[in-house]
Amino acid sequence: MTSLRELGRALAALGIIAVLTGTAANAQNLDQGKSAAKLFADGCTTCHRSPRGLAKGRFKLTLYLFLKDHYASSADTASALASYLGSVDSNQRGPSRAAAKPSRSATGTSHSSLRPPMPVQGR
Ligand code: HEC
Repeated sequence: MTSLRELGRALAALGIIAVLTGTAANAQNLDQGKSAAKLFADGCTTCHRSPRGLAKGRFKLTLYLFLKDHYASSADTASALASYLGSVDSNQRGPSRAAAKPSRSATGTSHSSLRPPMPVQGR
C-alpha cells in the first residue's frame, strides 16, 4: 500500500543527492580550471586594475584570511590568490613601499585579527 509513497520518497532523495553532488562538482570544476591570474582577471579587475600593490608585503596567511573572508568562495581559490598577489608584489623590483616601510606592521601582526590591518586611503 505504501510502496508508491516510498518509491516517491526514494526518488526525491535521489533527486536531492543528484542536485547536491552535481552543483558541488560544477563549482569545484569552475574554480579548478582557472589559474590564479585568470581568477583575478575574472573576478577582481572590475575594481582592482592590477594585482600589484594589493599584497602590500602582508603575510600570506593574513592575505589568505582576508580573501577568504571577503571574496573567494573556496579555501583553494583564496590560497591561490594569496600566493599570486604575494608573488606579483615580490617580483616587483625597485622602490617598493612594502620594503621601504619600517617594520612596524611586521612586528605588530602577532595579535592576528581577521580585519585587514588598515583601510587604505586615496585609491
Ligand atoms: C566590487 C569591487 C571589488 C572587487 C570585485 C574586488 N575588490 Fe578587492 N577591494 C575592493 C575595495 C573597495 C577594497 C578596499 C577595502 C579597504 O581598503 O578597506 C578592496 C581591498 C582589497 C584588498 C586589500 C588591499 C588593501 O589595500 O588593503 C585585497 C588584497 C583585495 N581587495 C583583493 C581582491 C581580490 C583578490 C579580488 C578578486 C577575488 C578582489 N579584491 C575583488 C573592491 C573590490
